[in-house]
Amino acid sequence: MKAVHKYIDKNKKRYLQELIAFLKIPSISADPKYAKDVKKAASFLKDRMKEAGIENIKIFPTAGHPIVYGEKITDPKLPTVLVYGHYDVQPPDPIELWDSPPFEPVIKKTKIHPKGAIFARGACDDKGQAYMHIKAFEAMDKNGGVPCNVKFMIEGEEEIGSYNLEHFCKKHVKMLKADMVMISDTSIISNNTPSVTVGLRGLSYVEVEVTGPNKDLHSGVYGGGVTNPINALSKMIASLHDLNGHITIPGFYKDVVELSSDDRKFINKAPFSEKDYKKSLGIEAINGERGYSTLERTSTRPTLDVNGMWGGYIGEGAKTVLPSKAYAKISMRLVPDQHPDKITKLFSDHFKKIAPPGVKVKVTPHHGGHPAVTPTNTVEYKAAAKAMKSTFGKEPIPVRGGGSIPIVAMFERVFGIKSVLMGFGLNSDDIHSPNEHYGLFNFYRGIETIPLFFKYYSEMKTGK
Ligand code: BES
Ligand code: MN
Ligand code: MN
Repeated sequence: MKAVHKYIDKNKKRYLQELIAFLKIPSISADPKYAKDVKKAASFLKDRMKEAGIENIKIFPTAGHPIVYGEKITDPKLPTVLVYGHYDVQPPDPIELWDSPPFEPVIKKTKIHPKGAIFARGACDDKGQAYMHIKAFEAMDKNGGVPCNVKFMIEGEEEIGSYNLEHFCKKHVKMLKADMVMISDTSIISNNTPSVTVGLRGLSYVEVEVTGPNKDLHSGVYGGGVTNPINALSKMIASLHDLNGHITIPGFYKDVVELSSDDRKFINKAPFSEKDYKKSLGIEAINGERGYSTLERTSTRPTLDVNGMWGGYIGEGAKTVLPSKAYAKISMRLVPDQHPDKITKLFSDHFKKIAPPGVKVKVTPHHGGHPAVTPTNTVEYKAAAKAMKSTFGKEPIPVRGGGSIPIVAMFERVFGIKSVLMGFGLNSDDIHSPNEHYGLFNFYRGIETIPLFFKYYSEMKTGK
């Protein structure tokens, strides 16, 4: 392990340069205009994986964006780890809020990252974190080898719901066979409080369209006489929460597993400063579902949020118009045992029911995903915890994350294999926001921790 860490230390600069080159490729999966760049990122990854010593590398085309696969199988007696990550990124919009262009990475020091952070779209989510695994592999491979068989599956559609991944996995069951899945695509509590993510929320994402009159109207001539679809949509959305912050869709909470008071106590023991939280977000008050703490509201409780809403006149100045249509994109974060399809149906039925007279409602489901919880009493969790303890000098805290990675539940459901979510980002790294960044400390700490994980996992599995 000494040699591995020495090698990492010696090659630090090059590792960073390679990541910078990777971050320059605008692999935005949501926007068809960037399909070529998404492909370019896949082939960049393929080339770097090859240089790192990974074998049988293949770019698998899908109905959408390609999946990059590679492996190194050294001994059938060793455990097999499937490393999953994604090389696609979120759109950088609103671009004017970036301090530097999203695909021209720059390194800057911040209060939280005094050693510097790399600013670029995808720096933390997930190019920087996925790349740690390639570099950790290289370091192990060049210094005695990886004590496990390793398979890499890096996809290009995570940010748009991993549409084609389930089909791909089912088609390549044998190729992907593994004892566990390792994912670095989540966060730690802070740079001196490590944590392992032990749960993710699911997702139901819908778009709604409310149609009133068959054309835009003069808001003076017709105003007051017909239902304004934007007024209607606003009211309908407002009614989805009651005064206690509970969601009012009938049956929404039916399958929610209530946590025991011990579990709740444990969750609320994690370090959290309400004052810092408010300060960092520029808000004067926190708010959410009554009876739950911020930590619970953002991890173990389901939510409903409007992600975007539009309609009518939004140009310069004032135009008097009673619009024909109003739209919104709404996401619901789900917790065990809520089912995304069931929730989508509940939403859709309810939303149509609460429409006032004079409007029609259309609900279009987008992507979804199942919630997941990963146990802490497994060999894979213990190996990750031990690895983090060695590099951070502190036992990591198991925490449930609020975001979603649909593949985690899919792997458990379809293949019966568990994932370990050993991420190294920070919640303050502005993923999906302008000025996304990833601490150099976090990048290197990840690369140092991963080989230890492989070592401990192999030892624990083989009893050596
Ligand atoms: N890496 C995130 C998920 C995440 C971030 C989990 C931080 C826990 C902590 C992932 O790339 C992501 O953004 N997923 C999407 C879901 C997808 C179906 C669009 C999300 O959570 O919005
Ligand atoms: Mn991600
Ligand atoms: Mn993301």
